[in-house]
Amino acid sequence: MVRYNFPEYKLELDIPEEVYFPAEDTFFLIRNLNLNEDIESVYEIGGGSGIISIILAKKLEKTRFLVSDISSTATRMIQSNCKLNGVNSQIDVVCMDKLNAIRHLSPEAIIWNPPYLPEDFETQELPIADKLMLTGGKRGYEEIYDLIAFLQSSKANTSLYTIFSSIAWDEVDCEEISDKLVHLEIIKELKLFFEKLYLVKIDFGDYNG
Ligand SMILES: C[S@@+](CC[C@H](N)C(=O)[O-])C[C@H]1O[C@@H](n2cnc3c(N)ncnc32)[C@H](O)[C@@H]1O
Repeated sequence: MVRYNFPEYKLELDIPEEVYFPAEDTFFLIRNLNLNEDIESVYEIGGGSGIISIILAKKLEKTRFLVSDISSTATRMIQSNCKLNGVNSQIDVVCMDKLNAIRHLSPEAIIWNPPYLPEDFETQELPIADKLMLTGGKRGYEEIYDLIAFLQSSKANTSLYTIFSSIAWDEVDCEEISDKLVHLEIIKELKLFFEKLYLVKIDFGDYNG
């Protein structure tokens, strides 16, 4: 395992090979996520190294975070990286599939930089840990649509911030979910060499924060 320095964020993170190394999508999300300073509770799914919630916790000192990952290695790394960066009292860490173990959802915001590539010829050969980091189902966005359905059925009042990639998703795919949603907004787009990333905000219930 190697310790990495992220000087722009005054951050050090231990990241083993089996845990997602923060990439363009991670920093795109961090740079463009504008949460209210008085936000009390945030859940992050698929925390990976923990980078997103750790940076947010350093900025939003009064906010409480719950971070999940389906990978037990990632979950352990999030815990130890929170300690390393002095934010462990603000962040609870749980190993679970999305938010499936939580009955009463109460966060004002949920964040997920999800695995968003479609399962195809190349990705089906990947080891399971890499698949979990990268692929979100046959079409690429089933995992995130699954979460959306869960949030709708749980009648949560919250906003979900997530990322879609043009490799798997098109704005017309919004139609599949937008009729059931209060509001879906593309906050920011990032054109990369081989894909376009969309940072999307989806409001549930009567929450509109
Ligand atoms: C693209 S990585 C993002 C990691 C980190 N948040 C970042 O932006 O650098 C996706 C993360 O989601 C996790 N993941 C995949 N499926 C999951 C699920 N069903 N429930 C919770 N976490 C999941 C993966 O283990 C991985 O850590």
